[in-house]
Amino acid sequence: MWGIIDKALDKFKDNSTFEDLILEVKKKEIPTHVAFIMDGNGRWAKRRGLPRSAGHQAGVKILKEIVKISKELGIKYITTYAFSTENWKRPEKEVNFLMKLFEKVFLEELEKLNQEGVKVNIIGYKERLPQGVKDKVEQAMERTKNNDTLVLNIALDYGGRSEIIESVRNIGKSLIDSEISLEDIDEKLISQGLYTNQQPDPDLLIRPGGEKRISNFLLWQLAYTELYFTDVYWPDFNKVAFLEVIKDYQQRERRFGGLKKK
Ligand code: FPP
Repeated sequence: MWGIIDKALDKFKDNSTFEDLILEVKKKEIPTHVAFIMDGNGRWAKRRGLPRSAGHQAGVKILKEIVKISKELGIKYITTYAFSTENWKRPEKEVNFLMKLFEKVFLEELEKLNQEGVKVNIIGYKERLPQGVKDKVEQAMERTKNNDTLVLNIALDYGGRSEIIESVRNIGKSLIDSEISLEDIDEKLISQGLYTNQQPDPDLLIRPGGEKRISNFLLWQLAYTELYFTDVYWPDFNKVAFLEVIKDYQQRERRFGGLKKK
């Protein structure tokens, strides 16, 4: 059922084979921007008789692995869904755990991310986050703002519809203030009002965890993104699985609404 990833997870116990896989993947086009919906942490933990929090902790480990391998491959942007505008509906205990976890991860990983040239960019409605998280987030963005090896967008209290509403509101204001005219409203202007302003749209979205939906993530930006869904839970999605998904992506023909190349 799990297809290529399932096989990939059993393979490559020795490093030389893994290096071969990297070389193979590097021979073809590497996606510039990859987005992730990190789903399945809770079920991963439950299957092991562990609390859901253990699943989120295991999820952080995988995210770190993905950032590392992405840098090695030359991927320029990663956007990852850490907390949605809807996730506030979860039990208070879990929300509190997640907020503490975000704070801890930013604190512990910031220097390493900075040394590796990663630019941390938080996308989402920052105002509602607890002060501790807000502080760490601002610190991380400020500290890494001049880095350009890899941009790591972390979606925190993020919702795709809210993001579009915000952009449209700003455009409406410019219109009322006569700074722009109706004809100026185009795709570029709407994109400029999004958190991902100046960034290319994702080439590839990966959603582990078995659900086949977008869940209010990057609604505007995913218009022509290649989608990859797998039943593997996020904490089981390792770098080998990631390379296998990129190989699948490299087989696809992206037409952006046009016709097949002759
Ligand atoms: C979805 O799985 C996962 C989340 C809501 C949280 C993801 C967050 C992390 C992995 C931490 C990342 C940390 C930083 C600093 C970016 P789920 O709980 O919905 O799983 P389930 O569907 O199995 O219940």
